[in-house]
Amino acid sequence: APFSVEYHDSVANTNELARERAVDGATNLAVLADEQTGGRGRLEREWSSPPGGVWVSLVTRPAIAPSQAPLYTLAAAVSATRVAREAGVDARIKWPNDVVIPEGEDGDYRKLAGVLTEMEGETDRIEWLVVGIGINANVDADVLPEEATSVREEAGDVDRRRFVQRLIEEFDRLRGTVDEIVPAWRELTLTLGQRVRVDRPAGEVVGEAVNVTESGALVVETEDGRETVSAGDCEHLRP
Ligand code: BTN
Repeated sequence: APFSVEYHDSVANTNELARERAVDGATNLAVLADEQTGGRGRLEREWSSPPGGVWVSLVTRPAIAPSQAPLYTLAAAVSATRVAREAGVDARIKWPNDVVIPEGEDGDYRKLAGVLTEMEGETDRIEWLVVGIGINANVDADVLPEEATSVREEAGDVDRRRFVQRLIEEFDRLRGTVDEIVPAWRELTLTLGQRVRVDRPAGEVVGEAVNVTESGALVVETEDGRETVSAGDCEHLRP
């Protein structure tokens, strides 16, 4: 089923609004805003959301186990990366779901988009899932954080309506073909083959990122063997 779109000029936070809609029973709903005044990123970070960006939260009620939810986050990152590439930007994915532009040969990159997923449910069943996607689209890079960039900066403005429509289309298609998500993610990632440091609650893991599992966890070859990391903050280290 396609998504219907609820549009706002300015809201505090589309994920919060989407959560309210989800609690009220909504599904296949995209809550979209031109600007967020209280945007949030992963790990409670602020997410700068000036007018002209794409700030959207997708409400779904998938018939999957909560352990499968990361797949939807990967699907969102793949969708955002694809539409950015269609707009002429050399976007790639940094594990797990940062959309970045590689800059120069020293392994640096600038962030273009991110995904923040929230869910509600029991251990065996998801009640609802809110997948928040933020893309710095028609935004001046100088109003964004230092390490960020925008589609405007990299390739020029997009037709925002069309861009959002394509984003939702891609996500809608991928959620119907879940087997395609991880392979599509692999094609677009910068992380595999890199030396990485992943910060996670259980401690940090340093080594070469050698694989990603069927549920999107990162496999890191460390000095003491292989570790599979399902969540954390990943930094690419210089070779
Ligand atoms: C990250 O990379 O830290 C995730 C960023 C997620 C941003 C999106 S924009 C739409 C939704 N509303 C928010 O406040 N956050 C997500």
